[in-house]
Amino acid sequence: MDQVESLLKKLSESFGPSGFEDPVRKIMNQELSKYTNSIYTDGLGSLISEFKKETDNPKVMITAHMDEVGLLVKYIDDEGYIRFQQLGGWLDSALLGQRWQISTKKGIVFGISGIKTPHVIKPEERKKTIPSDEIFIDVGAINKEDAEKNMGIHPGDPIAPLSEFKFLGNKGLYVGKAWDDRIGLAVMIQIAKSLHSNFHPNKLFLVSTVQEEIGLRGAQTSSFHINPDIGINIESGVAGDYPGISLEESQEKIGYGPTIFLHDSSMLPNIKFRNLIITIAEELKMDIQFNVLKGYGQDGSAIQRAHSGTPTINIAVPTRYLHSHNGVISRLDFDNTVKLIINLIKRLDVKTINNLKSFD
Ligand code: CO
Repeated sequence: MDQVESLLKKLSESFGPSGFEDPVRKIMNQELSKYTNSIYTDGLGSLISEFKKETDNPKVMITAHMDEVGLLVKYIDDEGYIRFQQLGGWLDSALLGQRWQISTKKGIVFGISGIKTPHVIKPEERKKTIPSDEIFIDVGAINKEDAEKNMGIHPGDPIAPLSEFKFLGNKGLYVGKAWDDRIGLAVMIQIAKSLHSNFHPNKLFLVSTVQEEIGLRGAQTSSFHINPDIGINIESGVAGDYPGISLEESQEKIGYGPTIFLHDSSMLPNIKFRNLIITIAEELKMDIQFNVLKGYGQDGSAIQRAHSGTPTINIAVPTRYLHSHNGVISRLDFDNTVKLIINLIKRLDVKTINNLKSFD
């Protein structure tokens, strides 16, 4: 495992449902502290790291979110089974038959979402999906008291998927949970590593945001604080290269380069910004992709609408099977996303940014 793979494993496996990003924030603080002394949190918990230029140069804000989709303990029933509230968008079928970790005052408690044995299911029931409010987590408790007193489980405790980082095939594909958006954080760390000693014309703010999956909340507060001139959000894209998904739904594939979002339900990118990225990719002779999505939603839209409006773009590392225990990403896409964004930041001088901001 090389350095990047170790970093990806650490980020993917760390615990951090929306609102409970502490372990991820610790990793980001540790990694980014190597390159800047100016790191602090805003009142909601987003981690803001500044790479300052002494001049009045424009402020470039780059975001990636620390939270992953997870669950929250709603109540413990008399038999000791855990009922939950979802944090972020899950498919009901992705919740069943999985391994989970609950963070309690006594530490991490392991649990599983049990699935009913097929031996007892009536034929007409077999084709039915189980709605999430019928799903429970089994922690091996004898009863409610055992779960509360001995295991320390309390309503409001966060629950994250449990999934180990793995290699898939032999072409640089990585399986893990929470690529959305730990892959964005990994890109951010590589950017900090490259740019802290290299020339870049701007005041750079690398922001690890909180609570994206439940409404872009950390991006709202941090962009209000920074008041940026330019926004770049780094996300996990929606790969559409597996059975059952069509070009109508998604136009990106893993292994074919970074994706520029041209439409999602939260944001239209700045079109001059899109064109600048196309030019840079051509100069680098790098393949990039585009996606026009009906749904989705990402932090870039909160940057875009902060204060009086900010030219913003969303750049994504294509990912298969988002919001599940096992996502898939490609190393080639990761490396190229890092390279593309570094070259983009170097290009954003005062003149270029003023041009992006003008409507003349
Ligand atoms: Co995301």
